[in-house]
Amino acid sequence: MGQRLSGGRSCLDVPGRFLPQPPPPPPPVRRKLALLFAMLCIWLYMFLYSCAGSCTAAPGLLLLGSGSRAAHAQPALVTAPNETFPKMPFRASLAAGKDKTAVAGSQEEQSPEAPDSPSPISSFFSGSGSKQLPQAIIIGVKKGGTRALLEFLRVHPDVRAVGAEPHFFDRSYHKGLAWYRDLMPRTLEGQITMEKTPSYFVTREAPARISAMSKDTKLIVVVRDPVTRAISDYTQTLSKRPDIPSFESLTFRNRSAGLIDTSWSAIQIGLYAKHLEPWLRHFPLGQMLFVSGERLVSDPAGELRRVQDFLGLKRIITDKHFYFNQTKGFPCLKKAEGSGKPHCLGKTKGRAHPAIAREVLRQLRDFYRPFNRKFYQMTGRDFGWD
Ligand code: A3P
Repeated sequence: MGQRLSGGRSCLDVPGRFLPQPPPPPPPVRRKLALLFAMLCIWLYMFLYSCAGSCTAAPGLLLLGSGSRAAHAQPALVTAPNETFPKMPFRASLAAGKDKTAVAGSQEEQSPEAPDSPSPISSFFSGSGSKQLPQAIIIGVKKGGTRALLEFLRVHPDVRAVGAEPHFFDRSYHKGLAWYRDLMPRTLEGQITMEKTPSYFVTREAPARISAMSKDTKLIVVVRDPVTRAISDYTQTLSKRPDIPSFESLTFRNRSAGLIDTSWSAIQIGLYAKHLEPWLRHFPLGQMLFVSGERLVSDPAGELRRVQDFLGLKRIITDKHFYFNQTKGFPCLKKAEGSGKPHCLGKTKGRAHPAIAREVLRQLRDFYRPFNRKFYQMTGRDFGWD
């Protein structure tokens, strides 16, 4: 029989019975503190999550929600009928490495302005998002200003790009698309994955290979006066191999006859019209954007506006993002992606060129003129190199 209890004691107080006792209720202050801490954690998480793509591009939270894209489709341009197009010896592939000034290794040295390291916030979220194959690729041209364009584009919160040149479609295609995708940075919903490898533009197999990956890939080509581009290319080689012959002697197959050596890669890469033809067999012209290397220097914001429209991105990168650095002689970023500090490209970009004889420059201009004109017709844009 149970004992009758009195004096406010519960059955748990009955000696000899070992029922578990509930913990005493937490004091209200401790409970409030725990709640406050939990709320702080949730707020911090949400803040950093929304910042993952945008905080590095602009101060404050002004750019939050920039995932929405303005659809500014580039109008398709009509290709003009064939013009006189000079015949010339044309090598199978410039990537073959048989060039007379070929330098082993990468076309672009892994310089400080090609950072692969993500920003601290990106690192925090390196586990979030997913790796995608690029939806847009800067395919050329070597020494056109491709690094500058990629570095400027990376400021955009909806652009995530691999820093180094992957060289997948020319050198590493055998490694497969899974290998290629694994090189890419993680992206969140609404962000574009990009890479740049300027040698793709002159790689015969690249158009078919990129089209096989995705017919919708957007292609960007930064082009520059082919004469200046050739000198820039030569200057880069000279910086690695100071013993190479002079620019003048490499330019000509027969100088007295004025015969240009089109087998030299520095010359051949500048035959843009010729290199563009195979791309147009695989991609509509409207899926390609031609950026002026000259205007990228004189009006970076203007060229970036065209690129953002082409990529269907909100126009976030404007003239407010640039300043002209007198010492460097080039536009630089007021706030670089990741660091938020002023940033110019490194010393391998914007090198001093050797002086070239006026007569050689004239002969080169004459040589390139018909190819340039053809290129203007094909792209629907006069780049003003003549
Ligand atoms: P030079 O070094 O001959 O002047 P790429 O990145 O495709 O290799 O192109 C290099 C070229 O980019 C440089 O060639 C330079 O002229 C050009 N360029 C364009 N904008 C630049 C910038 N903001 N800073 C430095 N170089 C820039």
